[in-house]
Amino acid sequence: MADDLLFSPFRLKNFTLKNRLGVAPMTRMSAGANSIPRQDVLDFLVRRAKNGAALVYTEALVTDYESAQGYPGQARLLTQPQIKAWSAVVKAIQAEGSLAIMQMFHCGRMAWPEVNPAHRSIAPSPVSPKQDNPLTQAPYPLPEEMSQFDIEHVINGFVETAKGAMAAGFDGVEIHGAHGYLINQFLSAYSNKRTDGYGGSASGRYRFAHEVIQAVAKVIPKDRLLIFRISNWAIADMEVSLFADVAEYQEIIGLLAKEPLDALSISTYDFKDPAFGTGKTMAALTREACDLPLLICGKIYDRASAEAALQDADIVLSGKSTLLNPNWLDDVRAGHPLKPYTSDQANVAYTAEPLL
Ligand SMILES: Cc1cc2nc3c(=O)[nH]c(=O)nc-3n(C[C@H](O)[C@H](O)[C@H](O)COP(=O)(O)O)c2cc1C
Repeated sequence: MADDLLFSPFRLKNFTLKNRLGVAPMTRMSAGANSIPRQDVLDFLVRRAKNGAALVYTEALVTDYESAQGYPGQARLLTQPQIKAWSAVVKAIQAEGSLAIMQMFHCGRMAWPEVNPAHRSIAPSPVSPKQDNPLTQAPYPLPEEMSQFDIEHVINGFVETAKGAMAAGFDGVEIHGAHGYLINQFLSAYSNKRTDGYGGSASGRYRFAHEVIQAVAKVIPKDRLLIFRISNWAIADMEVSLFADVAEYQEIIGLLAKEPLDALSISTYDFKDPAFGTGKTMAALTREACDLPLLICGKIYDRASAEAALQDADIVLSGKSTLLNPNWLDDVRAGHPLKPYTSDQANVAYTAEPLL
């Protein structure tokens, strides 16, 4: 069907995606002491490419051996054995005609000091989330305010991880600026109380993201992709709007549009939800403020929702449906009746049970 937008190609920089559907980044907490995910977790990504996804994200990789890690069993891309393990996965994904994208993050105040080699929790300001850590059922520790040294050290972690991704052959990298992790903590006045050049106005709070993007861009060749993920919600204190209002959100998007980025990925609970009391969706508000290609994610689970999501975005990402339904792309193509999966159902991602 010539008018089947979902299954039509999309030109993203120098790449042609074979359709508009991708696998969202999903943490699996399966890595051992070597910070390499379990083999079945790596195989899962390749299988999703075989099943037709145009692009496949890795789980969020942590950017250092100091303070970045928020969950046990997280992966890294900083050593030669890690590069070797990922390079096999990347080759297998690309052999299916799909793109392999590495996502990386630093958890900031969402870090779990016990699983971090340096046992540190650092953040823009010494403010912890109000909600307890769901994994420990205990309050998150009060983070240390990041010094200039910390800021530079953390930026270097993003750069080194991006270099690892390039060495492993990834088609692109995504800087995770969403979900209340470190970059998002800087962006939001909810967690950023700094009075130096990294805080205050929206442009001050944006400075850290800018420095990360600029430093990472230097190590990404022109023929690979650099993507940034953003959200207005966080894993902890979920109900809080991280941006004060639509003007602040669009100001930040306008700043991102000036960066050497190839796309923006917008993460929502539900792509249809109106945002900031405007009656418009996050995707529509983002599109108003920038010309970058957009990826959209959040409760997209069948053909109708995927088609609706493409009205204000270019590529649709699915988390839970691609996690739990190996035939998701075929089911969407056929227009089969499908239901959204729950977060409880998705918790199997964190167990040793291999997924189909
Ligand atoms: C098991 C699991 C792990 C996730 N891990 C990440 C992650 O590492 N990075 C990220 O940006 N989002 C992560 N997410 C969020 C998803 O990328 C996605 O935004 C979310 O599941 C909403 O999409 P859905 O309604 O299609 O599931 C995770 C979601 C699930 C279910």
